[in-house]
Amino acid sequence: MSTMMQPTYLHRPFTLVSSKMDNYRTRSLTFAEKLDCQPGQYVMAWLPGVGEKPFSIAGDDPLQLMVVDVGPVSHSLHSVAEGQRVWIRGPLGQGYRLVGQRVLLAAGGYGVAPLYYLARKALAAGMSAEVCMGARSAEDVLWAERFQALGVPVRVMTEDGSMGERGLVTKATEAAIAAARPDSLCACGPLGMLEALDRQCEQLGVARQLSWEAHMRCGMGLCGSCELPAPQGEDGSLHRHSCQQPGWLACLDGPVSWKE
Ligand SMILES: Cc1cc2nc3c(=O)[nH]c(=O)nc-3n(C[C@H](O)[C@H](O)[C@H](O)COP(=O)(O)OP(=O)(O)OC[C@H]3O[C@@H](n4cnc5c(N)ncnc54)[C@H](O)[C@@H]3O)c2cc1C
Ligand code: FES
Repeated sequence: MSTMMQPTYLHRPFTLVSSKMDNYRTRSLTFAEKLDCQPGQYVMAWLPGVGEKPFSIAGDDPLQLMVVDVGPVSHSLHSVAEGQRVWIRGPLGQGYRLVGQRVLLAAGGYGVAPLYYLARKALAAGMSAEVCMGARSAEDVLWAERFQALGVPVRVMTEDGSMGERGLVTKATEAAIAAARPDSLCACGPLGMLEALDRQCEQLGVARQLSWEAHMRCGMGLCGSCELPAPQGEDGSLHRHSCQQPGWLACLDGPVSWKE
């Protein structure tokens, strides 16, 4: 297996070796090459003539992405045949940090992808991990069996009660925190879920690392399209990595924000 080296901001061709359906609209794409990166970072995947979009890294050796078919770029990525190439730049952005001994993961939708990668890293570092997953219904639950195969306990919440318990993921995280307090909660999912987890962690005094999604174009702090209200640290300071832009750029300062 070959190793893809820097530079991060230039496109490089990655060869698709496996494209497998995970559910009715989601595929796992596995490439021949590996990527030197951290959980929570993302890549920009470009198909010439179609477009380019950011995708969380689901695995580094080999590079793996999870793609939900919702529009032009994701649909075309589903159509790439094994043996064909996708143009990738990255890794980009700031990922999750491994803190303490116990991490609680909270995933919604394709948020399971970076958190599965994080779970593997946490276990390799000797930490314990547990995952809470939220989905509309059983058919939207992704990769629960992969976490179980790692030995990571899984709590599933579905809005219609068709799998696991009925309700939102915050119900599962509340129970998980009460049972064993984590050193950090790491989450990736829709905005409403992240905001609810942020409030819950604030109330319970739990450190959290939340991955925020924004409209990204350049992925390198130049265009300003991904600017979000800045997440505040506990002491009121901003966890910022760029210094030239006025706001918090999800592409460069994030996508993961940290609150301790
Ligand atoms: C940091 C970051 C990481 C990301 N990681 C992933 C990832 O791991 N996997 C992944 O599939 N996508 C991921 N995305 C989203 C991805 O970049 C694209 O937005 C998505 O693939 C849609 O692009 P498109 O060109 O296919 O469709 P677009 O034309 O951009 O979208 C088509 C329509 O679908 C809506 N839409 C977008 N996403 C969803 C969704 N999840 N469910 C329902 N409707 C939706 C849009 O609002 C729009 O109305 C990530 C985005 C960011 C910023
Ligand atoms: S995507 Fe261009 S500044 Fe963030």
